[in-house]
Amino acid sequence: MSTFQAPKGTYDLLPPRSATFLAVREAISAPLKNSGYGYIETPGFENVELFSRGVGESTDIVSKEMYTLTTKGGDELALRPEGTASVLRAALQGNLHKLGGLPVKLWYSGSYYRYERAQKGRYRHFSQVGAEAIGAEDPALDAELIILADQAYRSLGLRNFRILLNSLGDKECRPVYREALQAFLGGMDLDEDTVRRAEINPLRVLDDKRDEVQKQLVGAPMLRDYLCDACKAYHEEVRALVTAAGVVFEDDEKLVRGLDYYTRTTFEFVHDGLGSQSAVGGGGRYDGLSEMIGGPALPSVGWALGVDRTVLALEAEGIELDIPSATSVFAVALGGAKPVLFGLVTELRRAGVAADISYGGKGLKGAMKDANRSGARFALVAGDRDLEEGVVQLKDMESGEQTPVALADLVDTVRAKLA
Ligand code: HAM
Repeated sequence: MSTFQAPKGTYDLLPPRSATFLAVREAISAPLKNSGYGYIETPGFENVELFSRGVGESTDIVSKEMYTLTTKGGDELALRPEGTASVLRAALQGNLHKLGGLPVKLWYSGSYYRYERAQKGRYRHFSQVGAEAIGAEDPALDAELIILADQAYRSLGLRNFRILLNSLGDKECRPVYREALQAFLGGMDLDEDTVRRAEINPLRVLDDKRDEVQKQLVGAPMLRDYLCDACKAYHEEVRALVTAAGVVFEDDEKLVRGLDYYTRTTFEFVHDGLGSQSAVGGGGRYDGLSEMIGGPALPSVGWALGVDRTVLALEAEGIELDIPSATSVFAVALGGAKPVLFGLVTELRRAGVAADISYGGKGLKGAMKDANRSGARFALVAGDRDLEEGVVQLKDMESGEQTPVALADLVDTVRAKLA
């Protein structure tokens, strides 16, 4: 193995593709910042217990995919496999739910870690932008989040995604359904693992991708038929609000999701150009999570969108984001002009113009190559004679046209031309 090989299931974000990742993070967070969500950042690791209690012992995420470690001091920690439990933990610790009004609306962006079987779209280190609205039970909040995710994807130009929507019921109706489903599953011919899963979280069995399991599931009781009146009414209102916003979704009564904390509204964003790893984002309501981790009752809802898969979705749709060149002006110094040009570049940067300069004592040809590679709109070229005359040459890299500009006017001239 080469020393320069990133660990399995991970990859590096390198320019120029990395610019797309930044733009995607920005596009996802922009609608949130615009809708009352404040930024939160939590540590990359937490006590293992937070996730085993929050996300659920029975989930693949906790039982198989968590990176756990024991510190030298004996603490049991886990690299965060997801953001919701951490954000809620931090909100409780910071007393955010007591300081201002509810809901507390937060957004985040960061790295997450799951020890998964690596394949395209499924990584061991990946990146999410997420949103959590903590402490309010209001269908408008569920609708808001679905609408904002739709807005984020659309602002990127994505079209081939679908929104799947379901309700998982609440602590009144889900246990009744669970029992009915368990009774049904008890009559099926299942392998040991699945029998165990049926005991711990029978809803997950509905999600089983295997044909032989799906065949036996025909006629299984469906949650929809067990939802209590309150859950039904809540779900209808979410559906109505999302519909009124012109956002199209599909009812998917088999949508279960891979985390145990969900109640009522659950949704997933799937992209049809991604093969098996089609979920570009997902979320839902988690009214019981706060109590599960030892807090007060704080009904909440949120989502996380996968940045890696969103970038893959852009590539699948052939969308190239319009990312402006990082550099506007590139300076090429000839003879002894370097110190003066370096000063001008500093001045341009301080004036907010993206500027760079050729380094390493290259000649005209090499330095002009750097200027080309930078994608700069203008090259700033000067030799000793130009400086003696008090000018620099401003070369338009598109037209090739070159004009002398007085040193004192440079910043204003460049700004005017870029405007
Ligand atoms: P999740 O469905 O586990 O939900 O993850 C959300 C998104 O993260 C997925 O749709 C996918 O795009 C991305 N993702 C997950 N695992 C991987 C992976 N191994 N490689 C690449 N991308 C991945 C959650 O994490 C919940 N915390 C969402 C939520 C927030 N629910 C309520 N609030």
